[in-house]
Amino acid sequence: MQVHLVRFGVFIVMLSMVACTAPAPLTNPQGTPLPPVPTLDGTQVNRGRQVYQANCGSCHGAKAEGAPNWKKPDAQGNYPPPPHDDSGHTWHHSDRVLYEIMRDGFRDPLRPDAPLNMPAFGSKLSDADLRAVIVYFKSLWSREHREFQWERIVEDFSP
Ligand code: HEC
Repeated sequence: MQVHLVRFGVFIVMLSMVACTAPAPLTNPQGTPLPPVPTLDGTQVNRGRQVYQANCGSCHGAKAEGAPNWKKPDAQGNYPPPPHDDSGHTWHHSDRVLYEIMRDGFRDPLRPDAPLNMPAFGSKLSDADLRAVIVYFKSLWSREHREFQWERIVEDFSP
């Protein structure tokens, strides 16, 4: 009997070791499981990089590193172009929010008369180009930031 108990104990220890080494399934903060983060399509990443370099790099930096001092507003309270890599806050927003910022442009919502320093690209770039730029941004983010942004996407489209 005792031998069985010891064997059972060893089995449980081994089971918990396996459980600890397997990657934890992705959940939201409420513990609800999320679908896995989608892998990126290399063709879209390349297309997005080209669209980015031709239309956005002059303000946001050739490698999306942002303007120097991007955290400091100018005398009128306008912020310089932020980075889109891990050091910025682009990864805080769902794809829908990013798409709308690119399509419609962006100004501080609390200052509706501020100039539209982030221009609207809706009439200049196609839907596919805008989506490709978002995929390019994702290729710049760490696993952790991609998971964070994936949660925002899932939330955004949940009823
Ligand atoms: C003329 C300069 C300029 C160009 C060109 C430009 N942007 Fe911006 N962008 C800005 C500025 C300035 C801001 C910050 C606006 C603010 O916070 O008030 C901004 C903000 C953004 C944001 C919001 C980031 C965040 O975390 O809130 C996104 C996304 C963005 N730009 C994407 C793009 C993309 C994609 C392109 C090219 C298709 C582009 N921008 C081209 C100046 C520019």
